Amino acid sequence: MIHRYNVRIADCTFAKKNKILMENSYSIIEFNSILQNRRSIYPYQFEKGKKIPDEIIRQVLENANRAPTHKLTQPWRFTVFTDKGLERFAKMQTEIYSQFAGENFKEKKLKNLSEYPLMSSHVIAIGMKRSTDVSIPETEEIIAITCAIENIYLSLTAYGLGGYLSTGGITYIKESKSFFNLEETDKLIGFFFVGFPQDSLIPLSKRASIDEKTVWVNE
Ligand SMILES: Cc1cc2nc3c(=O)[nH]c(=O)nc-3n(C[C@H](O)[C@H](O)[C@H](O)COP(=O)(O)O)c2cc1C
Repeated sequence: MIHRYNVRIADCTFAKKNKILMENSYSIIEFNSILQNRRSIYPYQFEKGKKIPDEIIRQVLENANRAPTHKLTQPWRFTVFTDKGLERFAKMQTEIYSQFAGENFKEKKLKNLSEYPLMSSHVIAIGMKRSTDVSIPETEEIIAITCAIENIYLSLTAYGLGGYLSTGGITYIKESKSFFNLEETDKLIGFFFVGFPQDSLIPLSKRASIDEKTVWVNE
């Protein structure tokens, strides 16, 4: 079943009534709709051979760069593969995987690693540069990157584009790091595959109600 989220008009009325919106206000209806319709779209769901302009990907990364970051460490590092770079990335990751996957090696995985980049418009490798100047827990650097990743997801949704974060393949192979200028204390977080969705009506994934995950304390 195709489920699309409809934002209640009340959300907007409430904001206006309570003067939450500023002079140059944002559309809460659109904002909620972007968030609620965000989804992971996989390379086999992309239009093959259709390239997104690099300027859009640059803007998406500018948006990622606005993520919250404790002590402004800004730990996200991106490597963008596109055009012939996608073949280079496919070759690189299949070689790393074949050499280092060991007992986790799977033929099906190797096939995906070689094919998924070529189905995509861009692949963004995401690394975490561990801060040395200021002392914050590593978890906080990862949280900051997670926020940057959500910014990527939401920006793509707003542009009508698709993508997903992959943490499979070579992500946790320690020998992969050096290919992305990451050092011992840094982390390879994953790969964001981006493309034009073939179909705009890809179903949303399920969520249990927020009420099951929230406790309100109001007295
Ligand atoms: C930290 C993280 C790692 C993920 N890694 C993978 C992955 O390796 N392979 C995959 O197919 N999806 C991966 N995903 C995407 C999830 O499968 C996807 O978010 C989930 O199915 C919910 O779908 P939705 O994003 O459309 O709501 C990852 C998501 C997150 C947040």
